[in-house]
Amino acid sequence: MIIGVLNGPNLNLLGTREPAVYGTTTLDEIVARCGAVAAELGAEVRAFQSNSEGALIDQLHTWRGVACGIVINAGAYTHTSLALRDALAATSLPFVEVHLSNVYAREPERRHSVLASGAIGLVCGLGASGYEFALRGLVQTLRSRS
Ligand code: DQA
Repeated sequence: MIIGVLNGPNLNLLGTREPAVYGTTTLDEIVARCGAVAAELGAEVRAFQSNSEGALIDQLHTWRGVACGIVINAGAYTHTSLALRDALAATSLPFVEVHLSNVYAREPERRHSVLASGAIGLVCGLGASGYEFALRGLVQTLRSRS
């Protein structure tokens, strides 16, 4: 079972980017942890990060028919990108939305996700561990459906 882990803009800077908000764990460490958890679950992770909306959409297209589900932190595109929402819908892949911070306790413009209505679940505010929880929840949900 292949799971795509998709990270959007500025998440390549995790570790040093606003550590009081996003913590000190790097994206490489998050991806490594996802890989270890996936192996434990008998799954496999393919990770991709880009600061470009188009590149994220292209990557989603390549996971069509390849991945079984997606863990996505779309960064600020979460709040704006109908194109990313359309791409997720076009893949028909179940996805879990993740945010390191609790976006619902932040500025009003971060309290709306254009992606969430299509998600099977959402994890936010639990820092880097949120990716692991999202992955476990996604794999469990996929297994219960099959
Ligand atoms: C974020 C929250 C977004 O509002 C922000 O633009 C990010 C990171 C999070 O993980 O908490 O880049 O997705």
